[in-house]
Amino acid sequence: MEEARRIQSLPPYLFARIDEKIAEAKAKGVDVISLGIGDPDRPTPAHIVERLVEAAHNPENHRYPSYVGMLEFRQAVAEWYKQRSPKIELDPKTEVVTLIGSKEGIAHINLCYLNPGDIALIPDPGYPVYGIGAILAGGVPYAMPLREENGFLPDLEAIPGDIAQKAKIMFLNYPNNPTAAIADEAFYAQAIAFAKANDIVICHDAAYSEIGFDGYKAPSFLQIPGAKDVGIEFHSMSKTYNMTGWRIGWAAGNAKVIEALGRIKSNIDSGVFQAIQEASIAGLLGPQNVIEAVTKVYQERRDLVIEGLNAMGWNLKKTKAAVYVWAQVPKGHNSASFAELVLDKAGVVITPGNGYGEYGEGYFRVTLTIDTQRLKEALVRMKQVFGKFEL
Ligand code: MLT
Repeated sequence: MEEARRIQSLPPYLFARIDEKIAEAKAKGVDVISLGIGDPDRPTPAHIVERLVEAAHNPENHRYPSYVGMLEFRQAVAEWYKQRSPKIELDPKTEVVTLIGSKEGIAHINLCYLNPGDIALIPDPGYPVYGIGAILAGGVPYAMPLREENGFLPDLEAIPGDIAQKAKIMFLNYPNNPTAAIADEAFYAQAIAFAKANDIVICHDAAYSEIGFDGYKAPSFLQIPGAKDVGIEFHSMSKTYNMTGWRIGWAAGNAKVIEALGRIKSNIDSGVFQAIQEASIAGLLGPQNVIEAVTKVYQERRDLVIEGLNAMGWNLKKTKAAVYVWAQVPKGHNSASFAELVLDKAGVVITPGNGYGEYGEGYFRVTLTIDTQRLKEALVRMKQVFGKFEL
């Protein structure tokens, strides 16, 4: 059986590969501490779980859900955005579509806008799904390097004119995975102008928008004038409400783009279990101090990681958002060799930066979504085994 060319060089997903490494080490008896995937360790808030239990008993919810999502869920999304920023007005009927997690929508949006050979502008380092989604759609990812000296923002002026002409879609993601960098309103305004000039759809992935430290609150792409003319924002319940396993998210913004994504989806999947949508409504419209509580925990862990790594030779500044710390590998290493060393010698999994693209080489990522005691233990182990690194 010959695989189609489009998947012949497709590796398993980054974290599927990392899971294999974890399983191998565990099979050898290693007490592995994974600082790999960003998967919140805290439970989903009780009121959301309780709503699910109730809604799961309703036979109406056992039938096919709506393709684009229950109107009540989409209304809750619009209301949630309005609470977040009064500048954001969304028509729940035409400007919101429900997703089986934002990963699904991010992959599928490429099918809506890329003809074979069309370019997708992707941040590098970046969430692997942007580039893979473009390839699976027959498009060609073009890396926008996120360099430390530019605050891990892409330099839009450096994108060659012919590339911009051929580009149909651009992915942005702030607060950023994997670098934890943030973007201000001026950056989004520049991106919107660029998209208008080149007829490009902006897809802003805001998965980490609610996790801000020391009082920082990330702007939404949708609150910037002109955003809805050129693009959409992806968000999900995953990181905001500790619901990665539930698989629910949304895209919101430009009605044409939302309709296109909904049309593709209605031909591929059959929507999100309605009980999950009802529980998510309880999350979106219920008490929001659950976000504050989890952010406080991440902030403490951020301090632990940054202080811990700095005691081993790094010179990292405190991050303002997201659930990651991104750091350069020590001298004499590349991303893969350093990740391997840390796993072999300390039993600690870190994510090698090259998993996020060419420009991630030379870096590694640590997640804050792990039990605080285990995180402390990982740092203690690393300090005991390695002492100090030369950077
Ligand atoms: C990450 O750790 O980068 C993400 O949580 C992975 C994912 O969403 O698949």
